[in-house]
Amino acid sequence: MSKPVILTGLRANNDLHIGNYFGALQTIVKLQEHFAGEYQINLFIPDLHSFTTPIDHSKLQNQIFHNLRLFAAAGLDLDNPDTYIYRQSYIPAHSELTVILNNFAYMGELSRMTQYKDKSSEKSNVSVGLFDYPVLMAADILLYGTTHVPVGEDQSQHVELARDIAERLNNKFEDNLFVVPSLLGTYSQVKANEKPISIRIRDLVNPAKKMSKSDESAKGVIFLGEDPEGAANKIKAATTDSQAKIQFDMRNQPGISNLLNILAKLEGVAVAEVADRYKEEASYGRLKEEVADAMKIFLKDFQKAYDQVDMKSINTKLASSEADMNKKANETLLKVQKAVGLR
Ligand code: ADP
Ligand code: TRP
Repeated sequence: MSKPVILTGLRANNDLHIGNYFGALQTIVKLQEHFAGEYQINLFIPDLHSFTTPIDHSKLQNQIFHNLRLFAAAGLDLDNPDTYIYRQSYIPAHSELTVILNNFAYMGELSRMTQYKDKSSEKSNVSVGLFDYPVLMAADILLYGTTHVPVGEDQSQHVELARDIAERLNNKFEDNLFVVPSLLGTYSQVKANEKPISIRIRDLVNPAKKMSKSDESAKGVIFLGEDPEGAANKIKAATTDSQAKIQFDMRNQPGISNLLNILAKLEGVAVAEVADRYKEEASYGRLKEEVADAMKIFLKDFQKAYDQVDMKSINTKLASSEADMNKKANETLLKVQKAVGLR
């Protein structure tokens, strides 16, 4: 039996932040750490997804290598033979499969994607690329027989769409044309055998929205490469409320709940456990202090690991993964081309 394939992509349009880390990257790293040999792991840079929202194109190459380095700093073992790290645009089958899948994806379903609605609202020129983004993402997933996709909550609708597209083609052409992928929750959910629930770290200034690297001000965002002292100050200045009680209640106390969530993720424990520790407290000072300190330690350790990453090993890994994954992706593409009558 071939190994289940866990796959995720992290765009390189900016530095990664703690939401990206806890929403996607950490799950993959921990799974590799604890179950090496049981899974195939694909972690890739969806570089063709980078310009669905405007970017500075002259910075893209540097950003890609910076992010690859972040993967290694997060603890991903590059020597693991079941782990593949690659750039989407180096595997042309992604683009080719997208062109085919486009004919089996519907305008209606793509128009209903929340991310599309958010990113296109109030814009006068909305690109076809932004609209089609989830189909390219479906191709990313389906080319490798992916069984599990760890992503943050904002991306779970896109994984659902990839499932729908896979099932649609399986029904129309042949039963096992595509493996139908499932969402994968955080590592602690996997360990506890819990139902996968994607997480969402919220913006520290405006906890009504998710922490996002596309955010212009970045005041509420903590990047992995950020100065630890500055990050601690952002935590201390985080928007809270005046309810004078500490409980995990995203609806009524999103700021406090976000801090509890961040602390739980930093400590690797359930949020209920952290909330329980603070349930008698009416002032928010000690909680902020503790989150700020934990964040400082996390970032310092992370950045130390970043400085020690050997770029040669990343380049070697890219070359071998891109060769192997071109082979795998082309096999799937050929199967699809045959099924739809192109070969
Ligand atoms: P961004 O919106 O910051 O540009 P991406 O869209 O590139 O981030 O997301 C990369 C990965 O990180 C995806 O799996 C996404 O679901 C996850 N992610 C992004 N923001 C958050 C967040 N605030 N909380 C949890 N996961 C997140
Ligand atoms: N769309 C994802 C994001 O913006 C990135 C991505 C592209 C991805 N292809 C993917 C994530 C395939 C998981 C699987 O975050």
